[in-house]
Amino acid sequence: MERDVSQITARHTYGTWRYQKGWAPLHVTRAEACHFWDAKGKRYLDLSSQLVCSNLGHQNQAVIDAICEQAKQLAFIGPAFACDVRADLSLALLEVMPKGLDKFFFATSGTEANETALRIARMYTGKNKILARYTSYHGSTAGSMAATGDWRRWAAEPVGVMPWVLHGPEANCYRCPLGRNVSDCGTACVDYLAYMIDHENDMAAVSVEPVVGTNGVLVPPPDYLPRLAELCKKRGVLLIADEVMTGWGRTGQWFAVDNWGVVPDILVTAKGITNAMAPLGVCATSRTIADHFDDHFFACGHTYEAHPLTLAPAIAAIGEYKRLGLLERARTVGAQLGERLRELAQRHPSVGDVRGIGMFWAIELVRDRDTREPFNTPQDKVARKPMVVDAVTAKLMELGVFCMGWVSHLVIAPPLVIDDAGIDEAIAALDVALAVADAKL
Ligand SMILES: Cc1ncc(COP(=O)(O)O)c(C=O)c1O
Repeated sequence: MERDVSQITARHTYGTWRYQKGWAPLHVTRAEACHFWDAKGKRYLDLSSQLVCSNLGHQNQAVIDAICEQAKQLAFIGPAFACDVRADLSLALLEVMPKGLDKFFFATSGTEANETALRIARMYTGKNKILARYTSYHGSTAGSMAATGDWRRWAAEPVGVMPWVLHGPEANCYRCPLGRNVSDCGTACVDYLAYMIDHENDMAAVSVEPVVGTNGVLVPPPDYLPRLAELCKKRGVLLIADEVMTGWGRTGQWFAVDNWGVVPDILVTAKGITNAMAPLGVCATSRTIADHFDDHFFACGHTYEAHPLTLAPAIAAIGEYKRLGLLERARTVGAQLGERLRELAQRHPSVGDVRGIGMFWAIELVRDRDTREPFNTPQDKVARKPMVVDAVTAKLMELGVFCMGWVSHLVIAPPLVIDDAGIDEAIAALDVALAVADAKL
């Protein structure tokens, strides 16, 4: 039975921080696979898997069953006790994690898992500084927000963030922070990170999103991560890979680092690990780091650490990624999606760049293809100026397609189960909505 949305909107939005002047969230009542429905019964294609997390598609039955079964079996036991579900998930993770990462700390978000990673890096190395990159997001607590390079950090500074975090340039081949051209840059952005480390002491770790996510789906050149891993190793600095968004088949591999054969010292993940159907984050460490804490105090942990109701759905989700062959699907169907997006770009002069890997794509909107000037900047976003990308996503919503818009780009990351009909639906809607940006040129 559909409910009368006019009766419930105020009640459903009043108590949430998302409700701010001029923005009333859509009231969603159900979801299935690649679609969700609002209270009026209108259907939407989910072109961003919500926050790039519903990788298996909505309401995956195996994951639902696992949550229900675990609730009946053992809904909660404190983290100091052993239990079957934690052992079973650890074994399942050993099969999919980059080889060598074999001890897992279970938290309840990507934020907390990153916070743990930073703390482990500091405790293990006995050093304090963390090097992250400007175009990045790592979470919303003091440590993870300090590591975050993007504009979301600004409001928290200086007292709301952890000290001793530095930021360096990211690999952005469309908008190189060093003004270089990708054809002959020699991956100078990696050299710059080495230069920074060499001019600092007390450096514990470098933390990167292997493919920058929300901030633009920035895929690094092939030698970037191998070179970064090498330079960290040479200098005795740990490499942390933040795979909160890029894990779980999104880039066509279990983890994005697998695309380049890199094994970081610490890998952080969350989101798709449970298909976002339960709040779980994982901080995976190498055996060397794990062994260190056999004899040293491990200052991490909280009440909901390794909560059984978050672990069981992860086991089920890993089973589903395998059963449905979603890594392979992300590679093949993702490549077709990318091809279609590139064709689309030819018809829309406001599209400056289309880039991506697997089932993870960005369409970057520009005022001018030659100068690559974006329509809007992070400063516009913070000042709450009207954003062209918001006009495009509003048009998409009108057409029944949800897509994450970010400063001056769209994040195209549908559930990995999307089929040809879903892609046709997405391309048709994008074709209409991009005309909104074209009209602003
Ligand atoms: C790369 C990355 N790291 C960390 C986080 C924070 O994760 P969570 O929102 O689960 O706390 C996010 C969230 O989008 C993310 O994309």
